[in-house]
Amino acid sequence: MTGLTDVHCHLLPHVDDGSKSLEETMEMLKLEYENGVRTIIATPHYRRGMFETPQEEIIRQFHRVKECMHRQNLQMELYLGCELHICTEMVSLLKEKKVSSMADSRYVLTEFPYYIHQESMQKSLYELIRFGYAPILAHVERYECVQKDLDFLEDLVSMGARIQVNAGSIMGESGRAAKRFCKKLMRADLLDFIGTDGHGSKYRKPLMGACAAYVEKKEGSAYARRIFWENPRKLLENK
Ligand SMILES: [Fe+2]
Repeated sequence: MTGLTDVHCHLLPHVDDGSKSLEETMEMLKLEYENGVRTIIATPHYRRGMFETPQEEIIRQFHRVKECMHRQNLQMELYLGCELHICTEMVSLLKEKKVSSMADSRYVLTEFPYYIHQESMQKSLYELIRFGYAPILAHVERYECVQKDLDFLEDLVSMGARIQVNAGSIMGESGRAAKRFCKKLMRADLLDFIGTDGHGSKYRKPLMGACAAYVEKKEGSAYARRIFWENPRKLLENK
């Protein structure tokens, strides 16, 4: 499949624990291209006390990468987003544009501590929805409170949360339990996005192609089209 969109990738250099140089970023972009990806939303971490790169610096790196893509004639679209670790100031951070929503839409990629309780997760997601945002729960397969209770996840989805899993987890790179869980999500139609969560060109690489082929084979092309193409389109069009 080509024309894929990666909605979760740490490819901006020097802003979080992702790419360590512009060269590595370009390697990652080439990997994405070879994997059939043509649209990427760069999602650097924002996490209090850990990743707090000022937004001006993130924007500066974003433009630096875009210029380099242009110079190298890389035919891909790059947008800016953020992987926002939930905190009490999240709404004001978004409103004051200290962190980016996804490609300037109302979608926001959110991350939680791994052992968060259901009540806190629901409360934070609802807080974003209440203020008009459409939260995407990043790599949902990592949270214990969701793994053990799919009804809870259904409640989050009915409330308006969107669900993302990592391509590697679908392919079994995070273990058999995570792979089984991802399959369950697909069968229950509780999944909206698949992203790479790529962090580098050597380790945690952005590999989408094999996953897209696998999902198409297992779940059918209509399903794959919705997950890899239609849902990301809706996001980019802010629908
Ligand atoms: Fe991430």
